[in-house]
Amino acid sequence: MKTYLVTGGAGFIGANFIEYLFETKKEAVKVINVDALTYSGNLENLKRVEDNPNYIFVKADICDKAAIEQIFAGHDVDYVVHFAAETHVDRSIRNPEVFAKTNVMGTLNLLNAAKNAWETEDGYKEGKKYLQVSTDEVYGSLEEGNTFFYETTPLDPHSPYSASKASADMLVKSYADTYQFPVNITRCSNNYGPYQFPEKLIPLMINNALSGKKLPIYGDGLNVRDWLYVKDHAKAISMVIDNGKLGEVYNVGGHNEKTNIEIVTIILDTLQEILPADDARRAGVTKELITYVADRKGHDRRYAIAPDKIKEDIGWYPETKFEDGIRLTIQWYLKHQQWMENITSGQYQEYYKEMYSI
Ligand code: NAD
Ligand code: TYD
Repeated sequence: MKTYLVTGGAGFIGANFIEYLFETKKEAVKVINVDALTYSGNLENLKRVEDNPNYIFVKADICDKAAIEQIFAGHDVDYVVHFAAETHVDRSIRNPEVFAKTNVMGTLNLLNAAKNAWETEDGYKEGKKYLQVSTDEVYGSLEEGNTFFYETTPLDPHSPYSASKASADMLVKSYADTYQFPVNITRCSNNYGPYQFPEKLIPLMINNALSGKKLPIYGDGLNVRDWLYVKDHAKAISMVIDNGKLGEVYNVGGHNEKTNIEIVTIILDTLQEILPADDARRAGVTKELITYVADRKGHDRRYAIAPDKIKEDIGWYPETKFEDGIRLTIQWYLKHQQWMENITSGQYQEYYKEMYSI
């Protein structure tokens, strides 16, 4: 039985990944989820797996050396899948320090703990792997046109968030180069799907539209992101753990580029279609809610992944069409309004007030 140490498993992608592992792995797996439960970590995201006897939750900060060492001392970890991070660009612009601490120092702490636990006299215990979950944002920004991020594209991060993720990637690379430490790095484009915290574009727009609140679009609304359904990302990570060549970087995404205004329009149209005729909110879900606001500082114009390498080497490709994925996502949020209320009732209101003066 393989043991996965998943960091940040109470967040959006981590929770989907843990669910994916238990749903799809034919042989039993053990999952240790270590998460500090920051504002974006939520144990409600793990309701479907929490009773599984092979699931263990440890509340700890990845920067806490003793706590992380204790996990490795207590379990024979086969794979580290490192999601835990501060992840929101807007927050990084307001408060960069915590991004450096968690994303850079936390990664270093994890690398050291795994290296110490796996080291033998002449290398590392058989079959171990550390997977760094990174982002396409480390490559910087593309102009409009037929250009894409490849694994060979030089890193050129612009926000404190992407700079901290690029720094973490460089540390991971240095452990592979210096100590022959067994790693992979995945760099994924924007994810969407169930359990995403409503500070990010898609859940924020769904939530605001359903509450009849304005839909704040930064700048001209023509910035482009390459959207990937979160379960496709979970599958990619699992396939890279199983079949990725040690030391390699894999871009994950899939030629699904959309401008922000297109995304918001699709959300409004889909809500109009899905909401029952007698639902009071239906009448309020209109394009009049769209409100252009000041642009994000240093706003990256366009992200677009070339996923050729992961397709050719590992056979992964994005399976979920955007029209299907966004419908599933909106339906999920409609069914989980209590989930949304729980996470938007407290601190979130303060964040929203400070961030959006509309
Ligand atoms: P998220 O913000 O939803 O979740 C982050 C999780 O990490 C939370 O559960 C939080 O409690 C935990 N965490 C934060 N600081 C911690 C610390 N110091 N110690 C332990 N746990 C801590 O983020 P997400 O969207 O699920 O992103 C997961 C990973 O995927 C991140 O590394 C992110 O950079 C990467 N990524 C995200 C996207 C995306 O579109 N969301 C795209 C590409 C890559
Ligand atoms: P976001 O979901 O924060 O992801 P990232 O910045 O990591 O790509 O934002 C996606 C795009 O949506 C980005 O171009 C910024 C834009 N955006 C808005 O226009 N309004 C908003 O309220 C938010 C949160 C994002």
